[in-house]
Amino acid sequence: MNAATSRDCTVATPFLAVTGATGLLGSYLVRDLLLAGRNLALIVRRDRKKSAETRVESLIHRWEETLDAELPRPVVLEGDLSQPQCGLSDEDRHWMHWNCSELLNNAASLSFRGEDRSGEPWLTNVTGTCNTIALAREVGIEHFHHVSTAYVCGLRTGTALEDEIDVGQAFGNDYETSKCEAEKMVRAAGFSSATVYRPSIIVGDSQTGYTSTYHGFFAGLRLGHTLLTRVVKGSTSGPALLGLLGVNQADHKNFVPVDWVSEVITHAIGTPAARGRTFHVTHPNPLSMHTVGRVIQEAVETYSAAASPDDPDLCDERWFADNLRTQLDVYHSYFRNDPVFDRRNTEEIAGHIPCPPLDDATLLRMSQFAIDCDFGRRQGRPTVPSASAP
Ligand SMILES: NC(=O)c1ccc[n+]([C@@H]2O[C@H](COP(=O)([O-])OP(=O)(O)OC[C@H]3O[C@@H](n4cnc5c(N)ncnc54)[C@H](OP(=O)(O)O)[C@@H]3O)[C@@H](O)[C@H]2O)c1
Repeated sequence: MNAATSRDCTVATPFLAVTGATGLLGSYLVRDLLLAGRNLALIVRRDRKKSAETRVESLIHRWEETLDAELPRPVVLEGDLSQPQCGLSDEDRHWMHWNCSELLNNAASLSFRGEDRSGEPWLTNVTGTCNTIALAREVGIEHFHHVSTAYVCGLRTGTALEDEIDVGQAFGNDYETSKCEAEKMVRAAGFSSATVYRPSIIVGDSQTGYTSTYHGFFAGLRLGHTLLTRVVKGSTSGPALLGLLGVNQADHKNFVPVDWVSEVITHAIGTPAARGRTFHVTHPNPLSMHTVGRVIQEAVETYSAAASPDDPDLCDERWFADNLRTQLDVYHSYFRNDPVFDRRNTEEIAGHIPCPPLDDATLLRMSQFAIDCDFGRRQGRPTVPSASAP
């Protein structure tokens, strides 16, 4: 099946429309949903150089190379969520009306701050979700799936239940506020079912270390990596730096590998009993900040090139810490203590899909991948041969 032929007719098996397919999680969802036999229609925007079709083709092609198997071609609908009707043509909306019964809204802006609500993250996360809901209603989507974030809990402490959303919490940044507003809109939209998936901080592939975005854990790693070029090996003592940054080593953060998040969401989408529920797609064993600091230290000292002791521009540990603190300001909310994410719904529906442990070896593999590809500036090659990274 290719896009051209599949669009010519109304098919017996309804399509799942998906947004955000070109992103980190989206690319894994495309792989897993296609392997699960779903017909997909991807709403993708063009970039400066490539059409939506070309972007999707290269994504599928990379998976085919990794899997060493052919994948069916999704239908590509060129669109931008920030536009009314998501910028889709009349013809494409007409096609959706006849062919799509479900929609997975996974696209988002991961910008943390945006003072102007006409810019990101508001534009895609709030206006874009509003446009996606309107599009879904117009074309008759019955079942709406929405990727939110566990951090709609904002600055809450204690236990955050999957069934809770707005309990008057304050938020750590505009991204969290925008995602919470979006989730409430989805819930209020009146679809036959609206199912919400709330991952915690997504890291790379648990098998290969592959990632294409560098938030959360990788933000700390990237700063450590960059700053190490100004200090000698050993100056980046993880625990000491965490102390200087004001991070309590006993605090915990919840990280989840992208391949597991995708597997859980794919399974839930295919499970009627999951419809209408909310899932904390979170790790059962959060990491202590002590572990995070220790692994980042080990990773940069192993894989990054430190300054040499006779470098005239050498800086001391205080300089390192001051720079880290300044640059990490925007990410400060990432490094606060997490509440306990109740995950009973996730256990009930996807308890048979165990979340891979994020042990030192796994985190170091992800760190090595990120450093080797210079945090996305170079083409990255997975460090372990596996069939799970594009
Ligand atoms: N990464 C995390 O730690 C994390 C944690 C919890 C929840 N989440 C949620 O998981 C989902 C996927 O995140 P990710 O990490 O995979 O992000 P990502 O790699 O940055 O991907 C974002 C995707 O959204 C698309 N997109 C953004 N704005 C759009 C617009 N206006 N119109 C059409 N497409 C648009 C992007 O398309 P382009 O390629 O064209 O830019 C891309 O495909 C998001 O809903 C996010 O909030 C992420």
